This record gives sequence, C-alpha cells and structure tokens, in this order.
Amino acid sequence: MISEAKDMKKTQTGKVRAHQTQNEALLFEKSSPGKRGYKLAPLDVPAVDVAALLGEAHRKVAGELPELSEIEIIRHFTRLSTWNYAIDLGMYPLGSCTMKYNPRVNEWVARIEGLADAHPYRPDALAQGILEIIDNLQRCLLEITGMDTITLQPAAGAHGEFAGILLVRAWHESQGNARKKILIPDSAHGTNPATAAICGYTVENLKSNSEGGIDLEALTRQVDDETAALMITNPSTIGVFESQIARIAEILHAKGALLYMDGANMNALVGKARPGDFGVDVMHLNLHKTFSTPHGGGGPGSGPVACKAFLEPFLPTPVLVRCDNKSMVSQVPKSGPGAPILDGESNNNSRQPQLTWSYDRPKSVGRVRAFYGNVGMFIRALAYILANGPDGLRQTTEDAVLNANYIRAKLEDVYELPYKTASMHEVVFSDKRQAARGVKTGDIAKRLIDYGFHPYTVSFPMIVAGALMIEPTESESLEELDLFIEAMRSIAREVEETPELVKTAPHSTRVSRLDEVQAARKPILRWAPAVGSKDR
Ligand SMILES: Cc1ncc(COP(=O)(O)O)c(C=O)c1O
Repeated sequence: MISEAKDMKKTQTGKVRAHQTQNEALLFEKSSPGKRGYKLAPLDVPAVDVAALLGEAHRKVAGELPELSEIEIIRHFTRLSTWNYAIDLGMYPLGSCTMKYNPRVNEWVARIEGLADAHPYRPDALAQGILEIIDNLQRCLLEITGMDTITLQPAAGAHGEFAGILLVRAWHESQGNARKKILIPDSAHGTNPATAAICGYTVENLKSNSEGGIDLEALTRQVDDETAALMITNPSTIGVFESQIARIAEILHAKGALLYMDGANMNALVGKARPGDFGVDVMHLNLHKTFSTPHGGGGPGSGPVACKAFLEPFLPTPVLVRCDNKSMVSQVPKSGPGAPILDGESNNNSRQPQLTWSYDRPKSVGRVRAFYGNVGMFIRALAYILANGPDGLRQTTEDAVLNANYIRAKLEDVYELPYKTASMHEVVFSDKRQAARGVKTGDIAKRLIDYGFHPYTVSFPMIVAGALMIEPTESESLEELDLFIEAMRSIAREVEETPELVKTAPHSTRVSRLDEVQAARKPILRWAPAVGSKDR
C-alpha cells in the first residue's frame, strides 16, 4: 500500500520541488582540523599579552568550533535554507497566526542608519526623530482602534494581554475592589485564560451559542459584582465577528465590569470598525499579525495596549509626552502640528514641542518591558500603515475577508463547516467527514506539505473537534488561492481513494513523521561527539 502511495505522490504533488540535498551533516561532522574560512593580515599593532590582560578570564583551551572553508559554510546554510518554508516561497495559511507578506519597504525603512543604530540610552533631545516615529505610530493605532491612549511596551500579544489585564486590576483596585473573576468565551484564544490566571483572576467559561457568538442570557446571569472583565477575542478564533458586542459592553458596564478585547485579529476590522466605538475599554493589537511585522522564527513581536482615558493613569511607565505641557500624546489635536500623518500629509516637525518620556506616573502598573518596546517593529508597522494609507488598509481588510470566504465557498462541499455564520479573516472546517475514513486533520496538514504549502493550523480552536483553521490573509493572489484549493480538494479525494497515502504523509520531505512528543519533551539541542569518539 505504501509503495503504491509513493508512486502516486510522483504524479499528484503539483507544486512541490525536491530539496537540493536530502542529507546534510552537521558542521561539526564536516569539520577537518586546520581548515580556515579566512586569513588574517600580519599584526600591524603592538602585540599584547592576552593572558596577562584577561587574568582569570583567559581561556587555556580553545573552544571546539568546526573548521571549514567559506564556501562549505555558505553552501551548508544555503542548502539548509531550502528546507525551510517561508511566506516568500508560497502561501502560509496558518490560521490565527496571520502569516501575511512582510513588505520589503518595511525592511528598507527599518535599516536606515539613523534608525537602525539608535540607542535606547540616547538622550530624548537627541532622539526626536525616533520619538516622532513612536508618537506617530501611537496616533495611527489610536485612530484605527478608536481608543484614547496607548502603550507600545509589550513585546507580544500575550504580553499585551498581561499589561491590559494589569490595567483592569489596577483600575478596580482604585475603586476599592480588584474583583475576583474574568469571563472568557470558549471561542477565545488560549492565551486569554492564561493571562487572566497569571494576573490572579479566576477564569469562568462562557459557552458560545450555535452561531459562535456569546449567549447574552448566559452572560447576564454570569456577570456579577465580582466580575472584573470579559476578555473577548473579536473576531473570534472561529473567524466570527461578535455582532452583539455593543450590547455585551452595556451588560458588563451595568455591573461595573470592563470589556477587554483581544484585538490580535484586527486584520479583519482595520478601516471598517473601531473597538473604541463599540464599547471596548482596553485591547491589545499584534503588530506582528495585523501590521505585517515579521514573526516567523520567533519574533520579535509587539503587542501594544490601547485603552479608554479612564485607564490612562495606570499605563506602564514611561509614557511619551510633549514636554511643553506634559499632555498625553493621545490628546494632541486631530489636525495641525502633532496630528497623525496617516493621510500622507507632511507635518512641520520644527513647530512641534519636544517629545520626552514621562516617568512621573504614581498610579502606573510599572514597567512591563525594558526600554520602550521593540522599536524596530514600530518602524516597520508605521511604514506599512503609511505605505497603505487609509484606503489601502481598508482594501487590505476587505481582501483578507474575501480570500477567507473564497476558500470557504470552494471547500465547504468537501470539508465539514461547523459554524455557518459568515467568516471574517479565517475559516475553520472540521475533519468530521475525513475522520470517518480514519484520516485526521493532522494527516491532511502533513499531506499539504507534499503539495508545496505550509500546513494550516491543526486541532485549534478547541471548540471545533478536529479543526482545520485556514487563514489565507490578503497577500494571496487568486492563482495561489486556486492552487491551495486544488490541493485541498485533491487531498479530500485521496482520503476517499487512498487514505493510506494521506496517513503516511509527508512523502516529499527529508524526514517524514517525527516523534513530536519526544521532540517536545526531550529535545536534543546541543551537539556532542559520540562517546569514545576521537573528537571528544
Ligand atoms: C487571537 C490571538 N490572541 C493572542 C495571541 C498571542 O499573541 P503572541 O503569540 O504574540 O503572544 C495570538 C497569536 O497568534 C492570537 O492569534
């Protein structure tokens, strides 16, 4: 059966290409003593006695580093790079992660010398350019979210949630009672309950209704005087916009509770709807999702927290202010000097009062990160926002939603769609039909690799058993979407005709099924020569 499967793969794997090489030894294994990738010029300065200079710190035995020529190293890493999948190679439909293309203009701007070399210890007076960038990004994000004030400090989405819930706690404490619990719908991102728990709150689950939204009657029953907030991911992890959100805010506010919105999925709302206008008190954004800053390979991310004015005194220290009157940057006028330049109009910086960091914040929750946040990401996000402008950002949102719905329409006859509510930026199917043939969502995802695509998100969100979570983003052309749809339909056919082919995928990679449990629990991260080896 498997050999039949291997034959089939040759005819059916459309887009995939073989790797440059199937086996690559480690550099340590390739090393041979005395090989060099460089030759230094003779010493033209007085020699120093390194041992005397370094004292205790002087190393007696040189570290064991691999010895190779330059070309061997270049080829090694270039070959390894061909094993990676990247957004620059093809579609990356990893739902909930928003793996959109990172425009090159972002990188170009971030590499401008004065920005790339700016040091966080530079005095504010000499850092006005970069502070203007931070200020401008803050204004743009406030305009996009409809909120009053913001901190860019948090270094990731979950970190933003942490900072946001600290604000909630600090505000309740200022009212005399921190309260005990946070309500979280079952369609929330997994980081939401983790955040609530780490901030010392009890998590109370809210069951979604059949449309994937919040059951208002259940909510009304569950909100009480000990409810600090509701944390809602909107649009949710099943790609559904909570249409009752304004009413939800009213129910919470009537009991003195706050509405926290996980705004990591704002890529479905930018230019269309503003959380500040539908009752949200505090929210975070994921710049590394919505605003195209890179996050493959572990970041760095950025999770700004925007909130209503009553939470401003609690924002993490420091906050950016105009130093003539120490007014909050968010309170600077909508036009004239200091206004956001989202429309591409130029500002006359020379007329603006200087920007500075204010540390005089007696009610602040304190710092949540060293310095000011991941400034390189701020530059990229602002470049993206300004390069798109308001009309481009709106178009981006429309395209992201259109692409998800195109995939939904083209696949819903072959994959089960558990929630029929209109999809926003992502669509979640289940493997119900394929599971009847013994094929699970993870198998389909592995088979997708043979078709030249990165897998979608597997088995998440948890409220959909055997979830296939697909988020194409706005980056994909109709041709690429059609290739993906063709691959998914072809896999559905294979499940019917040759399920073993799917269950044993991938067939085109250097290694096939890995022991994922072993890899997660006992990772081997360090090379060591075999016991008894002469290299030891
Ligand atoms: C909806 C949602 N909330 C929160 C997060 C957490 O963000 P981060 O991974 O940057 O901590 C994510 C990450 O993808 C997300 O999709």
